[in-house]
Amino acid sequence: MTASDQTKAANQMWGGRFAEGPDAIMQAINASIGFDKRLYAQDIAGSRAHAAMLAATGILSDSDAQAIGEGLLTVLSEIESGAFAFKVELEDIHLNVESRLTEIVGEAGKRLHTARSRNDQVAVDFRLWVRDQCDAVIEALAGLMRAFVAQADQGADWVMPGFTHLQTAQPVTWGHHMMAYVEMFARDRSRFQDARKRMNECPLGAAALAGTGFPIDRHMTAQALGFDRPTANSLDSVSDRDFALEFLSAASICAMHLSRFAEELVIWSSAQFRFVRLSDRWTTGSSIMPQKKNPDAAELLRAKLGRILGATVALFTVMKGLALTYSKDMQEDKEQVFDAADNLMLGLAAMTGMVGDMAANRDTLKAAAASGFSTATDLADWLVRSLNLPFREAHHVTGTLVALAESKGCDLPELPLEAMQAVHPGITGEVFSVLGVENSVRSRMSYGGTAPDQVRAQIARWKEQLK
Ligand code: ARG
Repeated sequence: MTASDQTKAANQMWGGRFAEGPDAIMQAINASIGFDKRLYAQDIAGSRAHAAMLAATGILSDSDAQAIGEGLLTVLSEIESGAFAFKVELEDIHLNVESRLTEIVGEAGKRLHTARSRNDQVAVDFRLWVRDQCDAVIEALAGLMRAFVAQADQGADWVMPGFTHLQTAQPVTWGHHMMAYVEMFARDRSRFQDARKRMNECPLGAAALAGTGFPIDRHMTAQALGFDRPTANSLDSVSDRDFALEFLSAASICAMHLSRFAEELVIWSSAQFRFVRLSDRWTTGSSIMPQKKNPDAAELLRAKLGRILGATVALFTVMKGLALTYSKDMQEDKEQVFDAADNLMLGLAAMTGMVGDMAANRDTLKAAAASGFSTATDLADWLVRSLNLPFREAHHVTGTLVALAESKGCDLPELPLEAMQAVHPGITGEVFSVLGVENSVRSRMSYGGTAPDQVRAQIARWKEQLK
């Protein structure tokens, strides 16, 4: 028997003009219930607001609206208890809920879809879902920021090498490095906050695309669902997925940030660096090499951007070139957003745990900070300040001294004064006061700089904001 032989009765929700049911493969490609059942709570909330509004405007009798409202709560509890039987023949969450509602309350259930379409229904359901996710991500980001602030607080003045090109650049403080991530995740948080604000308009009542002739009250449903206002153009309302794209874009940037710290953790926890020790809770062993402690969580966090950015590109590609208004293409939006949201939340939770547990190796950090001629800039600055050399010349003199130290196999503070004076006769013993790493970081007092006092001020500001 081929798939097309398996003709079934026409769809009970829209099959009036159909003599036979869809091909089994058509059903498989068309149905979204397998994934959009995640929208059940939002779908039921939207329907309850719609029914209440239909009654308030006299479109539906109070008794019907009452039956619908209660019936929807029964459906909700059936779904939450696992008793609900989702049916692929009913395509999606909207028809599954409505059909079951009608089984429970009879006639009244068939009146729920007055002045509404699945096009505005899915638009409102999905917005509500993405809005909830924004709230969850915003909260998770605050937790992650607190974990970084706690790390910074503990080691505000611990010295470590700062890198450019992953080469030792200048000494910085551990607190400063941790607080850099607080700034990054704070920008992420504000992106989700902005997106949430923009998406908080209610598309319900746009109906199929053109609005409706029924005297609905869109302000009432918008308010009931916690939206700031109804959307202003019905065509745009059913065809817009900017809210999902903004969520994915913000998620991608955030996942990129996660990947950057993840990479630092992979490097820092290696035997060659030993800047940090990751706890057993966030590492795994090897089945063959008994000594191994692998930073798997960090590696996976480094990778998560792959799928999150993938989802972003996927949805942009789905939406590109779609003529107004709704097209079934748009059903491909949900799985991408679900997967990205799940992975972002998981990633934020894992990173928060890992940052909370990690132990910085203060002595190793300090030793590393003092190597690699990290105070060469301080030396050049001293030549400018004390000998009034033009910076470019001071840079050259310092470069010569670095080459000299390198050839002697020592670092700058170990160079004898006479050797330095041979390069530039004006150098005095006072120079040694700027060659130490502690002095170096303490001197960088410019706003936003690495000096412990500056870092402590930033920590205090963020502690206050994250209360
Ligand atoms: N399952 C559909 C989706 O996710 C719901 C909207 C369907 N609308 C329609 N006219 N077939 O996009």
